[in-house]
Amino acid sequence: MNTKYRKTIIAGNWKMNMLASDVKPFVDELKTYLPKTRSCDTVLCVPAVNICSMLKYGKEAKIICGAQDVSEHDKGAYTGDISAAQLNDIGVKYCIVGHSERRAYYAEGDLKVNAKVKKLLENKIHPIICVGESLEQREKNLTMSHINYQIRAALSGIELSELRHCVIAYEPIWAIGTGKTATSEQAQEVCCEIRAIIREMYGARPARSISILYGGSMNAKNAAELLAQPDVDGGLIGGASLKPADFAEIIKATGADNE
Ligand code: PGA
Repeated sequence: MNTKYRKTIIAGNWKMNMLASDVKPFVDELKTYLPKTRSCDTVLCVPAVNICSMLKYGKEAKIICGAQDVSEHDKGAYTGDISAAQLNDIGVKYCIVGHSERRAYYAEGDLKVNAKVKKLLENKIHPIICVGESLEQREKNLTMSHINYQIRAALSGIELSELRHCVIAYEPIWAIGTGKTATSEQAQEVCCEIRAIIREMYGARPARSISILYGGSMNAKNAAELLAQPDVDGGLIGGASLKPADFAEIIKATGADNE
C-alpha cells in the first residue's frame, strides 16, 4: 500500500452466495469486530437481489455497496440484465467488471468489458476491472503480455479524467477459490507491472494514484503480507468476505486507523 498517494480498498465479492435476509445479521456481526475508524474504503459487492438490503443495513457500518456485473447497454430488451443507470439510481458506488468467472462462463470478452467500464463511468460508478492470467499462461511465461493486453483493452477510449474513477484488480485465475494464493512477490510483481502500463498509457501521476487490488484466496492470515507490498492497494476477496470475522481481520490488516 502507499496511503500517501492512493486509496486503500477492501472489497468483498459475495458471488452467488447469501440471501437478502442474511445481510443484516452479517453486518451486525461485522460491526462488532471492526475498529471505530478505518484506513480503507470497505466495499461489499453483493448479488443484485441483496443490494437494497446492503444499502440499508451497511450504511451505519460504512460499508459501500457494490454490484458484481452490469449490462453494456443503456436500456431496452435485455431480459435479466441490469443497467448502470439502474445501479446508480439506487446508490451503488462500485461494480466488478470482467471477473474471470464471467469471462469464462458467460463468454465475456475484452470488448464487452470495455463497453461495461464505459457505461459505469457514464453513470458515476467506479468499475473494479479484473485482469489475471491462467495457470497455463503463467507456466508459459505469458502473464505480463496477457495482463498488458487485458488492461489496454479494458481502458480503450477511457479519458484521463475518467481513469481516476477506475480501480484495477489483479486476480490470477489459478488463485481464485483454490486456496492457492499468489506469493506476495508474485502479487507485487504483477501489480507493479500494471502500474507501469498505466504510466505508459496515462503518465506518472495517474499511475501513482490508481488503486490496484490483489484478489485470489486472500484471507485473514495472508492479507497483511500481501497488503504490505508497495503496489498492492487492497484486496478483492471472495470466500473470506462471507465470514464477518475473517473479513474484519482483512480490513484490520490495512493498518492504522486514520480515516
Ligand atoms: P477468492 O475469490 O477470494 O474466493 O479466491 C476472489 C474473487 O474471485 O474475487
